Amino acid sequence: MTEQKLEQLLQDLTLEEKVYQLVQLPGICYQKDAAVTGGLDGSNFTKKDISKAGSALGIWGAENIKRIQKEYMEQQPHHIPLLFMLDVIHGFRTIFPMPLAQGATFDPEMSKACAEVAAKEAAVSGVHVTFAPMSDLVRDARWGRVMESTGEDSFLNSQMTAAMVQGFQGEHVGEYGRVAACVKHFAGYGAPVAGREYNTVELSEHTLREFYLPAYQAGIQAGSELVMTSFNTLNGIPSSGNQWLMRKVLREEMGFKGVLISDWAAIEEMIAHGFCEDGAEATLKAMEAGVDIDMVTSIYANHLEMMVERGQIAETLVDEAVMRILRLKNKLGLFEHPYKDGNEEKETEVILCKEHRELARKAVRESLVLLKNDAVDGNSLLPLNPEQKITWVGPYVETRDMHSSWAITGISQDAITIREAVTERIMEGDIKAKDHFFYSGSRILEDGMLEEFHEAVVTVAKTDLAVVCIGESRLQSGEAASRGELTIPEPQMQLLRAIRKATPHVVTLVFSGRPLDLREVSELSEAVLEVWMPGTEGARGILDVLMGAYNPSGKLPMSFPYCTGQTPIYYNGYATGRPQQGKDDPNRCCSRYLDIPNEPLYPFGYGLSYTEFDISEVQLSRECFRQGSGESIKAFAQVRNTGTVAGTEVLQLYIRDITASVVRPVRELKGFKKVTLNPGETCRIEFEITEDMLCFYTNRGTFEAEKGEFILWIGNSSLTENQTKFTLI
Ligand code: BGC
Repeated sequence: MTEQKLEQLLQDLTLEEKVYQLVQLPGICYQKDAAVTGGLDGSNFTKKDISKAGSALGIWGAENIKRIQKEYMEQQPHHIPLLFMLDVIHGFRTIFPMPLAQGATFDPEMSKACAEVAAKEAAVSGVHVTFAPMSDLVRDARWGRVMESTGEDSFLNSQMTAAMVQGFQGEHVGEYGRVAACVKHFAGYGAPVAGREYNTVELSEHTLREFYLPAYQAGIQAGSELVMTSFNTLNGIPSSGNQWLMRKVLREEMGFKGVLISDWAAIEEMIAHGFCEDGAEATLKAMEAGVDIDMVTSIYANHLEMMVERGQIAETLVDEAVMRILRLKNKLGLFEHPYKDGNEEKETEVILCKEHRELARKAVRESLVLLKNDAVDGNSLLPLNPEQKITWVGPYVETRDMHSSWAITGISQDAITIREAVTERIMEGDIKAKDHFFYSGSRILEDGMLEEFHEAVVTVAKTDLAVVCIGESRLQSGEAASRGELTIPEPQMQLLRAIRKATPHVVTLVFSGRPLDLREVSELSEAVLEVWMPGTEGARGILDVLMGAYNPSGKLPMSFPYCTGQTPIYYNGYATGRPQQGKDDPNRCCSRYLDIPNEPLYPFGYGLSYTEFDISEVQLSRECFRQGSGESIKAFAQVRNTGTVAGTEVLQLYIRDITASVVRPVRELKGFKKVTLNPGETCRIEFEITEDMLCFYTNRGTFEAEKGEFILWIGNSSLTENQTKFTLI
């Protein structure tokens, strides 16, 4: 439909019809078994609401959606189709590693491919919009939703967000197999005070702009059709009623032209926040802020029409919101094809097909992070020796539950267990020893050491090593899953301690939705592999890495704290006036803790490999460049695989602006490159340093680079000391 026809359609709508375009109902209104991802059950909606609301969330399945759409459109005087939205976060039915694990791949192309597959599966199932990606910067692992972010770095998050948006939407959302993306949660939702879910967010405008906004901006630049407001107050104002944030920053400065949807009941919650007296005031403030869709409450449905009629809200505000929604429906091609790609036959063909599973397995392999792999007498436990007898023990040995709590359309039965993956490898001949023992003790989370684990401890002594599979349960991370202690549940730690008493040779696989305090795990294990919530092909991907069929290359996208007391902790903070000079600094009055180190246990960008890489000193094409000249500097390093097996390394470029009108982080990621090298092979990697990369929000309120000296590092973690200097003159 042309823009002119859409305008005409808008003119033809009654005020009531227009208002209902702005109302989104929970799927439960249409179908009893729809997903309920928030706190309302939909019982407050009337038949009229259901026949008129412009969008629905939480429903999928081509047959369902087509039926609902058909019935709905028959009742629509203007035949405007219903828009179906759903949380497709890290896969639809083929579940990929959770987003934080995808961050660990440092491979935006991989995430793009995963989003493409997720979009295709969702689209054939009738879905039009996904509520992803979550672009919130996260620095505090106590917050349960860190699993849904790609981590603590705005550069990495920006790359990942853009890739995911492109993967979901392709060139045009109307294409076959595409869904519209929704960048969320605008803004600052990832910074709740003390990591407690839905809590207050206080960010200076400088910090907001410098660190928190870039990833949302990247998603908008990549063309995200929607943005979602956040639940939180930002500096005292709930986002869904924050005119400055939504009209000035999001629309005017960031150039967002698409549909702004509230988070689940976030408009109504402005009353609980103490920002609005009642539903009418919440309606007014949200409309003034330009929030186009009220997700799952009847606030707009109950107030908006009347308030426009009374002249309390300008009808032009309603019109602009409706137009944005009609444009989205039009871009998706729904006026011509109201079911879009929803197709029962395609569902059988496409969903969970072989290629999708293969991609999921590849993504798992790339996302695992080898945290420790000590060589004892010259040998390390990983990769596993196919001839060795192994005791596999812990609750994750037998579980198919490898999806995060956000994989609402995933089915655990699609995954195989670690035990089954080991058995597969024995059948395929990759594992030669037949003596493998499995103990999972399914009730361990509630019950402590079970009889079965006593047996495991006895068996361990007769085998060559133990692989202990422990971690957080799926429901310990995700929404409404903040934790005050970042620990592995005590019964599982008891198991690990008991196993360690029986053998010194312990490999621990950590399943988790967030960074945990792994001090003790690390002390008790010769090798530690972080496997996150790996999804449908989790077990096979893990075995690929354990057996050395894939050499691990994942890097931490978030610092793993030494202990919970360090949180929030991130690599790119500012220097203090009294920095600690080494861990034994005799000066009492320096910036440190009395009882714990300043450094995290495992830093951002860290991750080991089964091989070693030598990274040469950094060389520059020139030592200075002129401001405003368009010139750049090339930074090079040679990377050599000095080990005996092929491997992949992530080379990371960090920069520090030594002195500026506002202090700059001690280092910031500005680029990364992933290279795969055979043993003995060398390659030259090159980064181009441009003035754009040095820009920041100055004390003059401008976004620009300032002249002066910079430190530049190229290395394989945020701890690298491989540095040189250059000057902007
Ligand atoms: C979450 C959103 C999600 C929405 C719809 C909310 O509780 O914060 O991220 O998209 O529910 O399921």
